Amino acid sequence: MKIELTVNGVLHIADVPPMKTLLEILRDELGLKGSKEGCGEGECGACSVIMNGRLVNSCLVPAAQASGSEILTIEGLGTSDDMDMLQKAFVTEGAVQCGFCTPGMILAARALLEENPSPSEEDIKIALSGNICRCTGYEKIYAAINKAVADGYCSTFTVRRNLCSSGNAVPAHGKESICFAPETLSDALRILDDNRGISVIAGATDIIPDLRNGRFKYEKLLDISRVPELKGITLSDGAIVIGSCTTNGEIIRSSIVKKYLPALWEASFRSGAPAVQNRATIGGNIATASGAADLPSILLPLGASVAVESISGTREMRLEDFIRGYRDPDLMENELISLIIIPVPKKGSVQKFYKRGSRRALTLSRISIGFYAEIKNGEIDEFRAAAGSMSPVPVHLDKLESLLRGKKLSSGLIQEAAETAKAEVNPRRSAMWRKTMTSKLVTKFLEELIQHREII
Ligand code: FES
Ligand code: FES
Repeated sequence: MKIELTVNGVLHIADVPPMKTLLEILRDELGLKGSKEGCGEGECGACSVIMNGRLVNSCLVPAAQASGSEILTIEGLGTSDDMDMLQKAFVTEGAVQCGFCTPGMILAARALLEENPSPSEEDIKIALSGNICRCTGYEKIYAAINKAVADGYCSTFTVRRNLCSSGNAVPAHGKESICFAPETLSDALRILDDNRGISVIAGATDIIPDLRNGRFKYEKLLDISRVPELKGITLSDGAIVIGSCTTNGEIIRSSIVKKYLPALWEASFRSGAPAVQNRATIGGNIATASGAADLPSILLPLGASVAVESISGTREMRLEDFIRGYRDPDLMENELISLIIIPVPKKGSVQKFYKRGSRRALTLSRISIGFYAEIKNGEIDEFRAAAGSMSPVPVHLDKLESLLRGKKLSSGLIQEAAETAKAEVNPRRSAMWRKTMTSKLVTKFLEELIQHREII
């Protein structure tokens, strides 16, 4: 397909396969070798670039979605003879050794400073959490960023926001094309209906690694990332409604989510490093119907339902009914997820999401667990819990829920609940660790619930 994209202020046109990655385009087509390939699956940050004002892993951006975008690469900041202030700070603070991670580190720092010109140490650590350095050590890198801030770097660049959100893309609508990029929901549904079996992509964070490993093959593609009806977060009729193509990054920035759904905020925040958050979508996380998906672990306790749409109309169902089994969502060939609908939590309710993985910013969790509880007259009036990374799909902890509903919390009950949850989960790998961790997290939540009950 023909794409056009602006890289470092220069317009480029390329004729490439729709799933060729932005990283490959930058390096192979445009000769911009600053962005590196490390892991190729969103875990190292060596390929980081800024796309439409947000940090992304260029190894996870397909050409079809790069089209019409504005890209900033390390070459757009400065050259070795004429470095910008941030690049110079990396050199003077000794934050560069082999240099493999450095372009990605600098662009992650630049993306942070464009959004937040006065970052705290914690802000810097979070912003760079998806960028791995194997030889320098992070303290010098953090020091370089602090030096650039102190030297006034943030007043030397124009803040880039909202550049070309759909842009002047050359969407492939033609019959001869294998990638469709509609810009309305009705167009997307018509294409889906006319092309049964077509592969749908949104954030593409799972699909690109799957494509590389041969687990994903396609003949035709439908890119729904440009459909405005599938984006955004609204509050209406006692529910929070989230478009399926809303990214985890947008969820994290939403004041509605921060106010009403702090546990969903936490799950989105823990879903990966910022570059992954800026691409991965809530609909994609659900549609995979995978046991490792994090968001269902909290969406289930929050009582979420899913709206799926086709040219024939809309079906709405509870999330537990939508996820029928491993990789088996209740989605017909001509349907796509349009909305995720979450009832506004009751006043005084408590919700929590916990995730444990081998690294904070790592996308894959070893265990994720979500809780929702309502307390009335000192008793647990409603209790819902779900766990992920334990079984083929994230599931409610039914026995735990039944045990706790209508009970008054006590240390004896907490112990019984921890044992019940431990026995209820049935992980296939690292079973003892996961069972023990489940019981610890149940205990942790219930102990917090006791304190909360004393407050309300
Ligand atoms: Fe590792 Fe892209 S190459 S995140
Ligand atoms: Fe070598 Fe970071 S400087 S990996």
